[in-house]
Amino acid sequence: MNSPSQPVQAPTLRPLARGEAPGKIILFGEHAVVYGRPAIAAPVQQVRARAEIWSANSCIVDAVDLNRQLAVAQAPAEDPLALIVRLTCERLQRPLPPWRIRVTSAIPLAAGLGSGAAISTAVVRAMLAGFNEQLENADVSALVYEVEKIHHGAPSGIDNTVVAYEQPVWFVRGQQPQPFAMAHPLHWLIADTGVVSPTRIAVGDVRRAWQQNPTRLEALFDAAGDIARQARTAIETGDATVLGSLMDENQRLLMEMGVSSPELERLIQAARDAGALGAKLSGAGRGGNMIALVQKDDVGRIRQALLAAGAVRVIATVAS
Ligand code: MEV
Repeated sequence: MNSPSQPVQAPTLRPLARGEAPGKIILFGEHAVVYGRPAIAAPVQQVRARAEIWSANSCIVDAVDLNRQLAVAQAPAEDPLALIVRLTCERLQRPLPPWRIRVTSAIPLAAGLGSGAAISTAVVRAMLAGFNEQLENADVSALVYEVEKIHHGAPSGIDNTVVAYEQPVWFVRGQQPQPFAMAHPLHWLIADTGVVSPTRIAVGDVRRAWQQNPTRLEALFDAAGDIARQARTAIETGDATVLGSLMDENQRLLMEMGVSSPELERLIQAARDAGALGAKLSGAGRGGNMIALVQKDDVGRIRQALLAAGAVRVIATVAS
């Protein structure tokens, strides 16, 4: 019997291993980045995907939020969750392990916040910890990129890069990404329209527009690339005012590419009216999230304005 001074301890069940990854926002250059122009993205640590490894009889992925369990050995080749598990095993030259890989995510799906890349990255990181192995960020990113092809069709690779590096990144397709630190912390609000918008569809529509009128779309992509270059300088010198107007210019180009929407425009206008330094959609567009660059003291007021304008969720984040 336990004495009153020694309370019975419930046995704590712990997973064999864990992995995590953040969401992301694209600050500048979405869509143009698919066509070789530079873009800037930052991780969003406030929303994360998590994977836990539990002992089991065979290899199973348990996607809790999707209410979905799948046996990896029997899953179709193009299933994203099974694919990332298989690719990780191949990369590490390991057989499928007898694990239940439990995946949860606080990152809204199809909202431009990189949920697919974050879930895949969390699975890779948990598996690395479970196997007691290590991979460079670039190798993790390369594995996740293979799965992003299923989500996106023709991804640039920016989502898997920023999520795997967990740092703001200057990204040009096909080149070594350049993670960097901001000269001064920048305050962002991320507001969700609540409109689900799969990246593959917006990316496909921009491709069709480009095929129909390459000269016009190439000019828009060039202009977006120039804005990303100017934005990098503004970030490095800490000039938030210039950065804000560059966001507004980038948004105008995204509208012309056909990826904005009335819901996004309403939130963007509300943020500007409430005093944001600049605002634009972030990610594939059509729905999903917009971002606003704000002064620290204005966070509360602009958040309220975004909610009043119909945002279903507002996240405040600091990129540094
Ligand atoms: C999606 O987060 C960003 C896009 O530019 C697509 C891509 O880069 O693969 C729209």
